[in-house]
Amino acid sequence: MLLEEKIRTSEEVKKLVKKYGASQSSILPILKAIQKKYGYVSQFAQNEVMRLLNVSYIDVNNVISFHKILDKPQAKYTIRICQSSSCRTKSKDQIIKTIERKFNVKIGEVSKDNKIFLKSTGCLGLCHLSPVISINERVYTQVTPKKVEKLLGILK
Ligand code: FES
Repeated sequence: MLLEEKIRTSEEVKKLVKKYGASQSSILPILKAIQKKYGYVSQFAQNEVMRLLNVSYIDVNNVISFHKILDKPQAKYTIRICQSSSCRTKSKDQIIKTIERKFNVKIGEVSKDNKIFLKSTGCLGLCHLSPVISINERVYTQVTPKKVEKLLGILK
């Protein structure tokens, strides 16, 4: 998880703690709200809930298990965007915007239809062919916004 994603998640959890209060009974509404926004509750978000509510891992985990809160993304396609140095080109931002716009999803989130989980990743080992993304297990190189538009069009 990138620093920006951590900051965004942390801000969101803080907002929810303010809304629901910093007590043990707030665990469930906060986890549900996080799941609604991101499609699942990441380990980082769980840690933030523990920290800000001053509750234990077991407290959070019991709520997750009992209420069947998703702690992992459940999407048909996982799109990973390489965010390491060689892939940080100008077009990378356009590629991300294209995906975000098409599926109404931000990095770190699952789309509402559970089709796409968009995430950042470290180097995929093909730096000389940057920018690089992967969709499930398949890796795509020298991706352009136009190329990504085409790729997204074939995701059923
Ligand atoms: S930096 Fe992106 S593949 Fe290596």
